[in-house]
Amino acid sequence: MCGIVGYIGNEQAAPILLDGLKKLEYRGYDSAGIALLNASGDIDIVKAKGRLSVLCEMTDDGKTMNGTCGIGHTRWATHGEPSENNAHPHCNDEKTIAAVHNGIIENYAELKEKLIKRGYKFYSQTDTEVATKLVDYYYKKYGDPLRAISEFALRVRGSYALAVVNKDFPDTVFAIRKDSPMIIGVTGGAAILASDVPAILNYTKNVYYVDNLQIARLEKGAVTFYNLDREEVQKELVAITWNAEAAEKGGYEHFMLKEIHEQPKVVKDTLNYLCRDGRLDFSEVGLTDKDFKRINGIVIVGCGSAYHVGVVMQYVIEDLARVPVRVELASEFRYRNPVLNGELVVAISQSGETADTLAAIRAAKESGLKTLAIVNVVGSSIAREADFVLYTKAGPEISVATTKAYSAQLVAGYAFAVKLAKIRGKIDNNYYDKLVTELIALSEKLDCLMERKEEIQKFAAKTMDKQDVFFIGRGADYAVSVEGSLKLKEISYIHSEAYAAGELKHGTISLIEDGTLVFGVLTQKNLVEKTLSNLIETASRGALIAVIASDGVKLPVKGIDNVFRIPDVDEHFTPSLAVIPLQFFAYYLSVLRGNDVDKPRNLAKSVTVE
Ligand code: AGP
Repeated sequence: MCGIVGYIGNEQAAPILLDGLKKLEYRGYDSAGIALLNASGDIDIVKAKGRLSVLCEMTDDGKTMNGTCGIGHTRWATHGEPSENNAHPHCNDEKTIAAVHNGIIENYAELKEKLIKRGYKFYSQTDTEVATKLVDYYYKKYGDPLRAISEFALRVRGSYALAVVNKDFPDTVFAIRKDSPMIIGVTGGAAILASDVPAILNYTKNVYYVDNLQIARLEKGAVTFYNLDREEVQKELVAITWNAEAAEKGGYEHFMLKEIHEQPKVVKDTLNYLCRDGRLDFSEVGLTDKDFKRINGIVIVGCGSAYHVGVVMQYVIEDLARVPVRVELASEFRYRNPVLNGELVVAISQSGETADTLAAIRAAKESGLKTLAIVNVVGSSIAREADFVLYTKAGPEISVATTKAYSAQLVAGYAFAVKLAKIRGKIDNNYYDKLVTELIALSEKLDCLMERKEEIQKFAAKTMDKQDVFFIGRGADYAVSVEGSLKLKEISYIHSEAYAAGELKHGTISLIEDGTLVFGVLTQKNLVEKTLSNLIETASRGALIAVIASDGVKLPVKGIDNVFRIPDVDEHFTPSLAVIPLQFFAYYLSVLRGNDVDKPRNLAKSVTVE
């Protein structure tokens, strides 16, 4: 996620802004910049692609820029490649207004068109330049900086933490937020704003948490808050009790726990990117309806959890769109000389840099096939080499074990499947509308699952000495079992197997001993009975059974030791919910076993070598 900072006070602003951005580096970024109102009242902007150190070198740690009022930004690209041009701050043509932004302006394309019709030109691909020029448009129209921001807020859809400097108000920073975090501190003769606590902790521990659609006016040693009607509102100061390290994790003990909790938001953000007024729209991906119509087969390639997303997508796409799908480990696909026949090759990768997946997409292109990348990092190698790119909106994922990126990939896959099924006439309008409604409701259902984590935490404590754990399921329940097993292995170091439940009797049931823990995933109603009987078979051999079951699934009164319920949802989308208890289970076991949860032994976040 991007990081923003702002400062107005009696000190030189540039070093303070750079220091604040350094404290936000953990959020992940690919470019940075600062804007100051200098002594002659003009706006100076310095920005650069790459690490913050580039900016520090360019400005001699801020010493070459003078001025006591400014804003700064570290950019995690969501619209437009990482580049100096796309880096923030952005400004109007006259350089009388500059702004930085964290979030996603969903309707930026239509706003950009309207501004172009009013004579605006654009130099970048970003939604933030549109936001900046929209504020400029309304400032020119009303001559009132607060009105300009409130008019901006009334027309924009999406999430934003926006900070603005205006040449006509040299000692003021204006700001507004919606759904992206923003806090403001006042200390001595200064006022400071930031995306997150770490950037402010050095100056004050007493902050204001800006609420949605609140406007802030920062002046030397004071801040005033307003609602959208520009009426002043009173706010309480909050004392920060975290230390700097805890603050980077938003108060969570580990990045993984924070990222598990971010899943409702990233699922919502990814769907907002693919859904306009209740219709699935892949225009930003570059896939037209004609491209969808041409799809006669799909090959999905990926590694690890990305491969597991492909396993889910195979069930969903084949069931809904009736198009043949095969899923291949990228490391196998690239060497086995596959038989290809005009399929669309879909490469899934959070980092967009996984060597095997990159090689697989190159092999597909050498065979003349069209390629779609589902990636999280804008401008990554896989994104740059694919014909079509679907960017998930998970923001930077710090923990090696993927959670929120996996979930964002899942919903991207569901949306692709539903769109393909509709275009091929395999689902009617009613079912299409129902599926899209269910997709949009996923975020809320994920939210309520976050409240149920204590029961999983207790169960993890009860089972922390297990040496072997099985995960079984059928259909999409099998697809999520493989992800649950990988999560457990990679961060708790406990051996685990995931099996299609029907496979147990073909060999592995011999491994079941007294006390072996077996997780059963039960969300596919037509398969529940069968998986239950497999579970009972293991129980009769002494297994301890745990079940992840949809609320609507009926379970026998005995024989199942531990039941973790998940909300009902269309059965194509249950993996997004069933995986949550399994993520928590792996997380708590890793913590209980004293492991380095975010950096498990022998693993890297991105496997850029074979
Ligand atoms: C998932 O928790 C693992 N960290 C790993 O399997 C990962 O999914 C795999 O390396 C693929 O990475 P990518 O999505 O960046 O391509």
